[in-house]
Amino acid sequence: MKGCLITFEGIEGSGKSTQLARLVSTLKKNDCNVLVTREPGGTQLGERIRDILLDTRHHQMTPKTEVLLYLASRMQHLQEVILPALDQGQIVLCDRFSEATLAYQGYGRQLPLTQIRQLNRYVTGQQVPNLTLLLDVEVRRGLRRIRSRPLRDRLDQEKMQFYQKVRQGYLQMARQSPRRIVVINANENIRKVAAQIHQVVETFLKKRSR
Ligand code: TMP
Repeated sequence: MKGCLITFEGIEGSGKSTQLARLVSTLKKNDCNVLVTREPGGTQLGERIRDILLDTRHHQMTPKTEVLLYLASRMQHLQEVILPALDQGQIVLCDRFSEATLAYQGYGRQLPLTQIRQLNRYVTGQQVPNLTLLLDVEVRRGLRRIRSRPLRDRLDQEKMQFYQKVRQGYLQMARQSPRRIVVINANENIRKVAAQIHQVVETFLKKRSR
């Protein structure tokens, strides 16, 4: 059987990476053939693009340059890692994918959504995730989790507004594709969030094997 692509999405502090690691260990215990990867990154070239994107010295990067770099990383990742793994029947768990570009560059940075959708299609073709887990957390809680200090200054306020737009964008996409994008309440503690994810993934894999 052809594999499947499960993506994890959510704003900073939503607990994606922690939950992804937990899910991997559960799936491996059940003898599932799993591949874990991430965006931006996932390939040697993609990881170099990731370094460029996340380097704070590049504050002059324009939003369009940014979107093209995320998509360049995705293109390489699909060809080199994701498509071959799917052909081999693996369950590919990917930390962020196409929805991240729509949420951050589209809803967050306000680049036109139609253009980002077109670019995404140019890169991914027919390959849409089979399941997307959207770990939804309140912005203030998410940012506190990653910084463990109160948010007060002007920059923090700007950041809050940006992440509010990103979060609302994600939720909007989930409303538009409710069967594929499942909203997980990530305000809960690690164990409760893991239980929600486990249930959704188990149901998805059962349906798929029928
Ligand atoms: P990470 O911290 O989850 O690994 O993601 C790195 C950053 O990249 C995070 O701030 C979200 C951002 N990002 C985008 O802005 N657009 C994208 O298309 C992707 C994949 C990530």
